[in-house]
Amino acid sequence: MIIDIITIFPGMFENISEYGVIREAFSNGNCILNVYNLRDFSIGKHRKVDDRPYGGGPGMVMMPEPLDRALDHIKKKNAIKASDLQKTIMLTPKGKKLCQPCLKNLSGYENLILICGRYEGIDERFIELSVDMEISIGDYVLTGGEIPALVLIDGIVRLIPGVVGSEKSLILESFEEGLLDWPQYTRPPSYRGLEVPPVLLGGNHQQIDKWRKKKSVDITKKRRPDLFDKKT
Ligand code: ADE
Repeated sequence: MIIDIITIFPGMFENISEYGVIREAFSNGNCILNVYNLRDFSIGKHRKVDDRPYGGGPGMVMMPEPLDRALDHIKKKNAIKASDLQKTIMLTPKGKKLCQPCLKNLSGYENLILICGRYEGIDERFIELSVDMEISIGDYVLTGGEIPALVLIDGIVRLIPGVVGSEKSLILESFEEGLLDWPQYTRPPSYRGLEVPPVLLGGNHQQIDKWRKKKSVDITKKRRPDLFDKKT
């Protein structure tokens, strides 16, 4: 998969491919990340990418021309043959809320182009003409789309086949089954007066599975009744 980022803060993406599972994905060629500075596609010597909103009001709006130029450049460079394998995504609090099935769906594309909005937003005409999908990472407002883009990349890359060692660990974890994860324990068996639940030490895998399932159900009911109701 090729992931392209359009941002005015390219430095925010510098270290993403240096750690853990994400590093493996980028170093073994499963994934390529290209970061583009929007200012390199601006018009004029002031490298301007934003302007005042029509109708008045506070803040600035990102201009459509530099964004379109950046997008054209990326699309030409990547030369993805089937346009249905390429998606242009804008990160914005106005977008559709990200969820695990959305991540799974996005992990199947050959090329994702992520546009990080800043200021008061992006000129609506660019969105209408060139953006396939608007995504929000939750009902709160951040200062820009860069951190949401990082969240998206992290969530997608680990789902690309071959990136996370054990496919089973993907299936067993929180959300994949519509339930939250059960609690995990490691050594020592006794820690500051708290014991590991005896069932986990007994080696009876049927009982362990039953215990884990029950814990998942209990924790989901308590913390996320919305998820539990969806499931039943
Ligand atoms: N930009 C600012 N806040 C955001 C959010 N919650 N999701 C996506 N992009 C954003």
